[in-house]
Amino acid sequence: MSTSRAHESVPERALRATFIWLSHRRALGRLSTRIPITRPMVRRFIAGESLDDVLPVLEQLRDGRYLTTVDVLGESVDSAAAAGAAAGRYESTLDALAARGLERNVSLKLTQMGLDIDRDLCRATVARVFRRAAEQGAFVRVDMEDHTKTDATLDLWRELRPLNPNSGVVIQAALRRSPGDVEALIAEGARVRLCKGAYNEPASIALREREAISAAYEAQARRLIADGAYPALATHDGRLIGRLIRWAEGEGIARDRYEFQMLHGIRRDLQAQLVERGYRVRVYVPYGTEWYPYFMRRLAERPANVTFMLRSLAQEGTGGSRPRG
Ligand code: FDA
Repeated sequence: MSTSRAHESVPERALRATFIWLSHRRALGRLSTRIPITRPMVRRFIAGESLDDVLPVLEQLRDGRYLTTVDVLGESVDSAAAAGAAAGRYESTLDALAARGLERNVSLKLTQMGLDIDRDLCRATVARVFRRAAEQGAFVRVDMEDHTKTDATLDLWRELRPLNPNSGVVIQAALRRSPGDVEALIAEGARVRLCKGAYNEPASIALREREAISAAYEAQARRLIADGAYPALATHDGRLIGRLIRWAEGEGIARDRYEFQMLHGIRRDLQAQLVERGYRVRVYVPYGTEWYPYFMRRLAERPANVTFMLRSLAQEGTGGSRPRG
């Protein structure tokens, strides 16, 4: 089965859209976290459910010379209490990272902090995390969600940046507006993570073909590497990374002017190769009980993951061997 969007068949494209749609079904999420049978498959992408689970993973990565950022899973909360609880989990995580001498770097989502409820509530909730991070000398990255949140996310980060200048945002290269956003953020000296974009966006808003998305990513990444403030290149696309490295080296740009970022459990081989070659690699490590939408987006990114999941379910159902975690 092809993993390329350019060569995606109609059923594959439909499968992608279906998994993104499923990622928004909250009731299924609540149900799935109660079904232990799904856990071994989930563990490929999720470091664990508690702080006790994630801290040893972070220590292991540090010992392997990886940088890390921690995502306390959660998004689209629908009550002020849930938003406050999410902020509390980030505060405890920041405290635990500091207490264990681990790298203080977290990534959060605004809908986890109440953006869908009320913007002022969200601002106040994120401000709590920014303040605690500033006290701990921690970096906070505000992840980017679907295109209906782009303006709110950029605006809110700009408003909160003075509370913790050690913070940054994410740009999705596939969005048609992104070249303009990249230039604006370069001019502001903003710390940008560049990713391709994980959401199912309409063609009027975003590029949809793999080759076009890669080309857009490459152009925006070059701009950020050349003139941005220590950009983070978040992709597992080995060919794209190879082209960017060759270009940066040709321009005489030092390896410590940018970093690569990849998700926990994806392309560990490529992560190791880059570290071995002296590049900075940050692993995005998610933990928490609310793993369902994140997990569904990982399935949507690669049809082969769905086959893997169905095979595992069949094996577990017949008492067969379990997949590796
Ligand atoms: P592409 O999808 O072309 O994949 C390249 C190769 O990577 C594949 O051929 C396969 O080998 C491997 N691969 C990729 N995804 C895989 C998967 N799920 N399972 C198994 N193998 C896989 N998005 C967003 O919208 N907002 C955000 O804030 C972030 N944040 C973020 C942080 C970090 C650190 C990363 C790495 C990614 C994100 N993303 C994101 C997700 C991003 O937008 C994108 O959906 C994924 O990274 C997949 O795209 P690639 O660039 O890896 O390329």
